[in-house]
Amino acid sequence: MRVHVADHPLVTHKLTVLRDRTTPSPTFRALAEELVTLLAYEATRTVRTQQVEVDTPVSRTTGLALSTPLPLVVPILRAGLGMLEGMVKLIPTAEVGFLGMVRNEETLEPTVYAERLPADLEARQCFVLDPMLATGGSLLAAIDFLFERGARDVTAICLIAAPEGLAAVERATEGRDVTIVLGALDERLNEKGYIVPGLGDAGDRLYGTV
Ligand code: URA
Repeated sequence: MRVHVADHPLVTHKLTVLRDRTTPSPTFRALAEELVTLLAYEATRTVRTQQVEVDTPVSRTTGLALSTPLPLVVPILRAGLGMLEGMVKLIPTAEVGFLGMVRNEETLEPTVYAERLPADLEARQCFVLDPMLATGGSLLAAIDFLFERGARDVTAICLIAAPEGLAAVERATEGRDVTIVLGALDERLNEKGYIVPGLGDAGDRLYGTV
């Protein structure tokens, strides 16, 4: 597994405002979107492309086009939705699929409760959006789901991760092509499963408490 923690003052600046408990939802949403666009720039460094010829008004040269099948962006509901606009701003032609994850109250395992994805992900490059990598349970379930459908490689973009969750995902994905791009790697998880210092509940901060 490759882990990339974005090292850029604008990323840290935007995260600092997101962390601030007094930042209201509209500002939080706008900043999360901007932050994801910066992280997406890093996460798409290995996006698959092919050489194409292009006629400029002056001459002819070689450039790059995105390869098909086009990348698939998969926000994990609900908080991952707050990252979608920032991602598709950078790759407007990407296809978008949705995964809803919920914890099974008996087994405590995260399970997929809603899914809108192409049936066959053969050879697809998938980008999963999940703002908080806490225990890693839901991200791991999403990664497993995509590989079972035939995805070739999965890149997850997270705003913040806890070391415990990152290690759990690393252990469980050994031997598979997984990349995690982070805005920050925080200190730890607390006893309630929140990332410390973190930013609180990302879904609530984005959309209010429901
Ligand atoms: N999910 C969140 O939204 N925040 C955390 O700190 C952990 C999980």
